[in-house]
Amino acid sequence: MINFDYKPFLLKDHYFDHSSTLHGINHTYRVMFHVLNIGRKAGLNHDIRLAFCAAFIHDMARLHDSYCTEHGIRSVKRKLPAFKQLFFQTGIDADGIRAIKLAVANHSIRHEISKSNPYYHTVALLKDADALDRIRIGEHNLKIKYLRYPETVELVDFAKELYYRSDGQIIRNMDELIDLAVGLGEKPF
Ligand SMILES: [Fe+2]
Ligand SMILES: [Fe+2]
Repeated sequence: MINFDYKPFLLKDHYFDHSSTLHGINHTYRVMFHVLNIGRKAGLNHDIRLAFCAAFIHDMARLHDSYCTEHGIRSVKRKLPAFKQLFFQTGIDADGIRAIKLAVANHSIRHEISKSNPYYHTVALLKDADALDRIRIGEHNLKIKYLRYPETVELVDFAKELYYRSDGQIIRNMDELIDLAVGLGEKPF
């Protein structure tokens, strides 16, 4: 169940430092959707909202589409300050901001944080959601064995469908992406 107002989370081209169809608006909306969907199926609670905020900014500071380990921390430094107020309005507190920072910084590096870390689920949820959209780079780009939740594994085929359904379309808001997902039989609530 979505127990927060996601409607103000509107992505604009100029938020992104590098214009891209691979890591731009459509990819970001799909990752935000996957966060909601995996999070609900895995029985997570407040981590869903935190990972959703993290997904919103996670690729905004990319400078190119190639392999890059730097853009996570760059997004924390360059984008989080601009959207912190939006996150606070969503009911997130200072501790939540720390979780978002860790998730965004960690998503572009291979390092896996410990399950005993209090922010583990925020980090893991963003990484799994981002991984589900790797189908756009190629069928073999998603390594199932590295996924963190069994619920994510169950969503691999759906993620492919969602990518093919939304690729090349102009997605203006989260509801438009949710409509596409619902058309494919998945609802994040
Ligand atoms: Fe990224
Ligand atoms: Fe991404």
